[in-house]
Amino acid sequence: MLWWIYLLLVSQALATLPSGGYAPGTISCPGGLLLTRDASELSPSEKDWLAVRHAVADPQLAAFLKAANMSDFDVDSFLADKHINIALTFSGGGLRAMYCGAGQLNALDLRSSGNSPLKGILQASTYVAGLSGGSWLVGSLALQNFQSVEDILSQGKLWDSSGSVIRPYRFNVVENTLQFTRIGFDILAKQAAFFLTSITDIWGRALSHQLFNTFDHDGRAVTYSDIAASADFKAGKFPFPIVVADGRAPGTTILNFNSTVFEVNPFEIGSWDPSLNQFSQLRYLGTKVNAGVPHGKCYAGFDNAGFIVGTSSSLFNQLLVQMDQSVLPPVLKKLLDIGTLPLSLEDVAYYDPNPFFSSNGSTSIQKAQRLTLVDGGEDTQNVPLTPFLHSARDVDVLIVNDNSNDRHGWPDGTSLVSTYQRQFTPQGKDAPFPYVPGQSSFRNLNLTAKPTFFGCDAKNLSSLTNNIYDVPLVVYMANRPFTYWSNTSTFKLSYTKDQRQGVIANGYQVNSREEGKLDSEWAACVGCAIIRRQQERNGQDQSDQCKRCFQKYCWNGEIYQGEDLGDNFTPDGITKGATFFNGDNTKGIHDGGDSL
Ligand SMILES: *[C@@H]1O[C@H](CO)[C@@H](O)[C@H](O)[C@H]1NC(C)=O
Ligand SMILES: *[C@@H]1O[C@H](CO)[C@@H](O)[C@H](O)[C@H]1NC(C)=O
Ligand SMILES: *[C@@H]1O[C@H](CO)[C@@H](O)[C@H](O)[C@H]1NC(C)=O
Ligand SMILES: *[C@@H]1O[C@H](CO)[C@@H](O)[C@H](O)[C@H]1NC(C)=O
Ligand SMILES: *[C@@H]1O[C@H](CO)[C@@H](O)[C@H](O)[C@H]1NC(C)=O
Ligand SMILES: *[C@@H]1O[C@H](CO)[C@@H](O)[C@H](O)[C@H]1NC(C)=O
Repeated sequence: MLWWIYLLLVSQALATLPSGGYAPGTISCPGGLLLTRDASELSPSEKDWLAVRHAVADPQLAAFLKAANMSDFDVDSFLADKHINIALTFSGGGLRAMYCGAGQLNALDLRSSGNSPLKGILQASTYVAGLSGGSWLVGSLALQNFQSVEDILSQGKLWDSSGSVIRPYRFNVVENTLQFTRIGFDILAKQAAFFLTSITDIWGRALSHQLFNTFDHDGRAVTYSDIAASADFKAGKFPFPIVVADGRAPGTTILNFNSTVFEVNPFEIGSWDPSLNQFSQLRYLGTKVNAGVPHGKCYAGFDNAGFIVGTSSSLFNQLLVQMDQSVLPPVLKKLLDIGTLPLSLEDVAYYDPNPFFSSNGSTSIQKAQRLTLVDGGEDTQNVPLTPFLHSARDVDVLIVNDNSNDRHGWPDGTSLVSTYQRQFTPQGKDAPFPYVPGQSSFRNLNLTAKPTFFGCDAKNLSSLTNNIYDVPLVVYMANRPFTYWSNTSTFKLSYTKDQRQGVIANGYQVNSREEGKLDSEWAACVGCAIIRRQQERNGQDQSDQCKRCFQKYCWNGEIYQGEDLGDNFTPDGITKGATFFNGDNTKGIHDGGDSL
């Protein structure tokens, strides 16, 4: 019996992509084309796609703005000759971030069953990005044609975290062993095709059980570039999904503002940073190249979707290193053997051959045979903002969903502070970001207690950049307890259905502002933020309503100087922040501190 299962698993795993396995397989090379290009502008594919998306999203934006009850504002004449680009961004933070983000996203989704004032923003957006736990949300949805969060939950197949990534079948040892045996054969198949593997391969395969199990074998043969071929994406029916990871030099453990921020989108992988400033076609990842030209056969299938989001979340590799390895087959034990594994390799994902090898320029990335990527949050920019700060992307407004663990499991603006500071380094010089205060101000001025807008006045950004209107306005929405203590540990990878629902429902309250109960003008105020940059470009004044909104939500430049009182939520309702609940996980109480 056992040998029979063994043979079955081997034959399945060895079926190579593009014909059905995890290992990359050969395909014909694109005729006469370079696989790599300089990152001076958007790719031709993205430009073509944008035209299609705008035809779908522009009317949706008009509908949102009309439903938002904005006074003294004529939607149709305003939108007549300009596309507004909205980018949604979802932070890292493990399953907490994924589920908080799912609730926040649901509040932006026209299809959601509730009365969120922000319904329709998802349909009006051009871009969506996720990093680490946020990439699980974005990657899983993008490969499901951006099905609604509510549909996914009601179908009950995806996002089942009642087991954990390490123990997908909970206490069923036989099933767990079989699962890791299958993963072992996937790894063997990739190795047999002469590709270097790392712990991230195991992590990506294990993670896929929750994110991609609507596909055969947890999406063993599903790639991120498959999104580009899907009918709904081609028809512009959902935003352009981006996953962010960091580049790290081989043998090092330190990441800082000099690290290269990589993005993976349905067409390409690469970076806008000066340390690379190139993109390569995602589908052909795994192909050996020299100066962008295929060198030998072309390969496809390297960009397995689980591997891509596993790369963005490679910090979690350490869970595998620490797990009970008795259920693991020898090939996995060997990969995980910390005795032979230097710390610097624990969290890397190998992209070997390096798609940028010997291409234009002589940065260390272009000289390396092997590209090594790690978790996108390791450079302390835990929200994937940088892809949208390059003027080529022309983003008007960034909707930031921050579910980081900065303090006690809550965000305190650290991510924004990092991205703000990075613009003053060589790597960030083309990625201007609005002024933000330090973390103490975030905590003590209630900037995480209710949504806060940054960069409200482009004219005030002139000491950061000459192209002030290219800097997006930031709508910052931070995880905060409304109906549930949604500050669960980043490394909690097992949630009961109730826990999952609690976190998701809380995220929904954060972005919907309790379905508008905390502010009857909430939709109009976000509308004011969305149209702001274009109004400024046009030299148009804001309506009185928008002025009032900006008074309410814009950070006004104040820096907190007093004693750090923190955002001290306690179950009995003593809070220095604005919103808290009474700790029995059933009802919310508000103290009115957030200018009800
Ligand atoms: C290298 O640079 C040249 C000149 O700037 C450009 O024409 C070419 O497309 C670049 N090649 C790659 C692979 O980026
Ligand atoms: C717009 O105003 C109407 C009437 O007051 C109200 O029913 C509706 O909920 C408002 N819409 C939003 C998005 O706030
Ligand atoms: C980043 O690189 C520059 C030189 O390119 C160097 O001067 C600086 O110290 C580096 N910063 C960090 C934080 O390593
Ligand atoms: C959640 O937040 C509360 C209030 O700040 C804190 O007491 C608790 O320790 C936090 N829980 C976790 C898991 O960090
Ligand atoms: C306006 O610009 C100044 C620097 O010129 C900066 O210190 C301040 O924080 C900015 N204010 C806002 C609200 O962004
Ligand atoms: C922050 O919220 C608390 C509690 O509602 C309130 O007492 C305090 O005045 C607020 N601080 C600011 C700067 O608005």
